[in-house]
Amino acid sequence: MTEPLAEPEGEDGASVLALPWARLRLQRWPRGGPTSLRAFGHGEAALLLRVPARSGPLLLCGDGFGALPLGSAGRTRSLIADRATTRLCMTANAALNPTLPTEPPCVVTTPLNVPTTTATGEPFGGVLLSWPRSHDLGFDQLRRVGAALPPGTPVEVASRAEDWSASVIRRICASLDSAIVHRAERRGRRIEGRLRTATPPTPLRVAGPDGLTLWSWAGVFAHGHLDAGTARLVPNLPTRPPARHILDLGCGNGALGLVAALRQPGATVTFCDDSALAIDAARRGWAANAERLAGRSAAFLHACDLSTVADQSIDLVVCNPPAHVAGAETRAAAAAMFADVERVLHPDGALWLVANGHLDYPERLRQHFARVVVVQADARFVVVRAQGPRQYGVRNRGARRPAPEEG
Ligand SMILES: C[S@@+](CC[C@H](N)C(=O)[O-])C[C@H]1O[C@@H](n2cnc3c(N)ncnc32)[C@H](O)[C@@H]1O
Repeated sequence: MTEPLAEPEGEDGASVLALPWARLRLQRWPRGGPTSLRAFGHGEAALLLRVPARSGPLLLCGDGFGALPLGSAGRTRSLIADRATTRLCMTANAALNPTLPTEPPCVVTTPLNVPTTTATGEPFGGVLLSWPRSHDLGFDQLRRVGAALPPGTPVEVASRAEDWSASVIRRICASLDSAIVHRAERRGRRIEGRLRTATPPTPLRVAGPDGLTLWSWAGVFAHGHLDAGTARLVPNLPTRPPARHILDLGCGNGALGLVAALRQPGATVTFCDDSALAIDAARRGWAANAERLAGRSAAFLHACDLSTVADQSIDLVVCNPPAHVAGAETRAAAAAMFADVERVLHPDGALWLVANGHLDYPERLRQHFARVVVVQADARFVVVRAQGPRQYGVRNRGARRPAPEEG
């Protein structure tokens, strides 16, 4: 069998995943990150090589840059993906591979909505689960799939070999029937078994800042606690000037947006995150503190950019930007956020941000904002206020304020 290959190819930084039936070109997102990084994982490659051995429709599970759904193009398949980025990359990378079959389309759902059958009611013949970086999230995913599909459904789980300790392997085996652990091959490792009936996981209730209640799912940033950087920003969140529309960008469990709302009676807060689980956690946080938040309203946006948010429509942005994408440290995600905020921030508005002190974010922010002040700095964190978007006066391109998600 042809070995899956990864090689950066061409100036667009695409990596090549050579499968026996296709030579996939895949790019990472956001652009501008390190080009030496592959746009697929060893676990995904190991799972894709198993596609021909699996009959019937496939239930794929995992986030990435589109390798799983594109590598299995031509098969009936559904994908469970937490990240809006995964959907975006699936489409963008499909365009880089115009010879792949486009039918049948891949149906994409979030971990909170695991399908029990295909869209046409056929049972899934097997599950291919690419193990996430958070082991807790991986076990939750197994439980979600085990709760939705009939017991005995074949399942294959794979990861980069070094990411699984002996105890994680034992726990995965204990969650499946008839588990077989395969030897690590080409840096990927695979466990094969059959689904066991499971109860779906439940979120965790966490004590938040200012006496707020937070909710959290495994896989959401700072699961089960308040991040030290977030805690540093909280006392700085302003009460004045009054903000009509607040954006919690990369909201995670929503801690920053909830505190900002408490300090701004009458505000509408948009909670935006790439992760569907984070958006669900923020939504639960809003509901849990509804009494104290009377008079404010909320919208929830599962997205990896602000393309649906109108120019200059936001008075206050609160943000603890992501430092990693798919496990690799990168400033590209934060850089894309700064450019988006420059566009959506009202000329009199402010962005309040916390970041690790070693990052060059104050300098980067100066490219987008006329007034950037480091309000607090120590060995670990900087708290920054940025005002005066340089795109001041940009024409509204007809975008609209984000509407609350349906359902
Ligand atoms: C450092 S965490 C901060 C979470 C939360 N605000 C807090 O303070 O606990 C960054 C968050 O950004 C989200 N994120 C990553 N890329 C994103 C993007 N392109 N658009 C929106 N959110 C993103 C991640 O899912 C994560 O929840």
